[in-house]
Amino acid sequence: MAENLPEEHKSVEEAEAEAEKRLTWQEQFGVSWKTPIGLFGVGLTTVCFTLLILGLIGHMTGLIENHYAAIVTFLIFPAGTLFGLILIPVSFYVRRKRWFKNSLSKVFLVIDFSKKVHRRAVILFLVLSVVNLTIFALVVYEAYHFTESDFFCGAICHQVMDPEYTAYQRSPHAKVGCVQCHIGSGADWYVKAKLSGLRQVKAVITGSFSTPIPAPVEHLRPARDTCEACHWPEKFHGKRTKKFVSFTNDNQKEPSVQEISLRIGGRNPYTDTFEGIHWHVSKDVKVEYQSLNKTRTAIGKIKVTKPNGITEEYDVPGGSKEKVAGEGSWRTMDCIDCHNRPTHVYESLSGKIDMGLFAKKLNPELPGLREDAFTVLQKKYASREEAKEQLVESLVTLQAKRNGDAFVKEHEASLISSGKYLLDAYLGNVWPDMKVTWGTYKGHNGHQDEADGYGCFRCHDDTHVTEFGKTISQDCAQCHDEP
Ligand code: HEC
Ligand code: HEC
Ligand code: HEC
Ligand code: HEC
Ligand code: HEC
Repeated sequence: MAENLPEEHKSVEEAEAEAEKRLTWQEQFGVSWKTPIGLFGVGLTTVCFTLLILGLIGHMTGLIENHYAAIVTFLIFPAGTLFGLILIPVSFYVRRKRWFKNSLSKVFLVIDFSKKVHRRAVILFLVLSVVNLTIFALVVYEAYHFTESDFFCGAICHQVMDPEYTAYQRSPHAKVGCVQCHIGSGADWYVKAKLSGLRQVKAVITGSFSTPIPAPVEHLRPARDTCEACHWPEKFHGKRTKKFVSFTNDNQKEPSVQEISLRIGGRNPYTDTFEGIHWHVSKDVKVEYQSLNKTRTAIGKIKVTKPNGITEEYDVPGGSKEKVAGEGSWRTMDCIDCHNRPTHVYESLSGKIDMGLFAKKLNPELPGLREDAFTVLQKKYASREEAKEQLVESLVTLQAKRNGDAFVKEHEASLISSGKYLLDAYLGNVWPDMKVTWGTYKGHNGHQDEADGYGCFRCHDDTHVTEFGKTISQDCAQCHDEP
């Protein structure tokens, strides 16, 4: 009969003997993490956390300025610390059999403030928690700033962003943060940006991003929320003179120079009227248009709302409805419809070559250099590395074919330096792996790429017409001096 008694009916002596065998909480904590996993976790956490603190001190005191060190400090060390910490409960879990065997669950953890050891333990716990939370907050703060930095945007996804980052670094906005145009102020756009950022990271990891990255950016924040933090279109800019230099293959020595004054306009302080090119973005009017394709290069209806509430609607002859199924998408014109390349400024092929000739970086005395420059810059290299190896070489070969080996020998130094200029031009504008090449990203601010549907002449074509027969003028003098 006695053997069948349930456990609780053990004698007092038996129970006490068993309790003695049990480990105390302290002892249990002391042994349970000593599995390979637990040891690894504790080691990893200790090492990463120590390095994290050293890195944090280095960054905050300015001793470390290297951006790659920031990736390690703010992303890799915290991840290592956290991973190590997670391994510790995992190691307890692995040892769970021993916990149950020792029946720890039957003995509650009691904190007794009358005991000195307990008081000390609690105080130590609180102090360590405050220290840890402070470090954690510092890391989050620094990591937040780091993920908003131009370096993070431009260089982390190096292959993908290299074209935009390179073009940006030579632009007038090289010191304006990526986030100032791409996110702007306000929590809602910050959240939107981080969500789309996550999608982009996924696209990079899975390799599913498009090459080239498509323009226009469909969900770019309305430019007026971002650009106008620094630029104010009501300010009167008056005119701006620009110089355009060009050569021809037949005459690569004497440039044809055109200077034109662009009537940027603004609110004229003398007449209090808004005049000139910036009229489209003045407070007085709202210009909306219907784009008939994704690249916004074909424009259907255009609607202008004037301050007195009068609207004018232009349309292509025959109506634009027939061109698209249903209504095309409407867009309110803003800075980006002209300044679509304010910072990712890719250079034009002929512009780059002609500037080289003008500045004598390309030696105009080398016969046929202009033509050969076009050939080597447009050649399809498999990669930027291949271009680095072959470009200068192929210029020399072309010149040898054209002018003879003796000529090439005599002008070797000048040919090599011309070749280097062209290689720099190539590396600044062409990324074969991203399918970015000359003319991939065209600008709207002018009419050089009119033939591809870019620029002012999308609307200023004398073809869009109101029901009263009014057109949008292509009169040269409306925008600039007669060339
Ligand atoms: C002065 C404002 C400005 C700054 C600063 C800026 N961008 Fe842009 N970015 C733009 C505009 C405007 C477009 C949209 C072009 C379009 O829609 O055609 C754009 C487009 C892009 C695109 C899409 C591809 C393309 O070339 O159209 C990428 C990628 C990009 N930006 C990345 C960056 C990165 C990375 C940085 C920082 C290194 C940065 N941008 C800084 C204004 C800016
Ligand atoms: C954080 C401030 C800031 C923001 C935001 C900003 N810009 Fe600028 N922008 C500048 C500065 C600074 C310059 C250089 C001025 C100079 O050196 O004369 C500049 C220059 C320019 C120029 C003249 C370029 C030239 O060739 O001289 C244009 C055009 C321009 N910005 C358009 C834009 C557009 C469009 C946006 C919005 C997509 C924008 N900016 C957003 C600060 C800003
Ligand atoms: C209708 C086309 C158009 C629109 C819309 C437009 N701009 Fe411009 N903007 C121009 C042209 C053209 C120039 C002069 C040529 C150049 O800088 O390439 C210019 C020049 C500028 C300059 C340089 C001024 C100087 O003195 O050199 C700034 C800055 C500028 N724009 C900012 C803006 C901002 C900000 C917006 C949006 C609020 C805007 N623009 C909207 C066409 C436009
Ligand atoms: C989306 C269509 C559209 C685009 C693109 C466009 N414009 Fe216009 N623009 C208009 C309309 C509409 C008017 C008003 C015509 C009128 O009322 O006579 C206008 C008027 C103007 C005016 C006269 C403003 C005044 O003082 O009354 C100038 C100057 C001008 N545009 C320059 C440009 C330049 C430069 C570009 C390219 C950088 C450009 N526009 C691109 C639609 C456009
Ligand atoms: C709607 C405004 C507008 C009209 C109309 C216009 N232009 Fe322009 N034009 C521009 C702008 C803006 C630029 C500056 C482009 C740049 O900054 O790269 C420009 C630049 C030029 C250039 C120098 C760049 C190049 O393409 O070599 C020439 C030449 C030129 N225009 C000729 C003309 C002639 C000729 C007419 C009349 C048939 C005319 N334009 C009408 C806005 C206009």
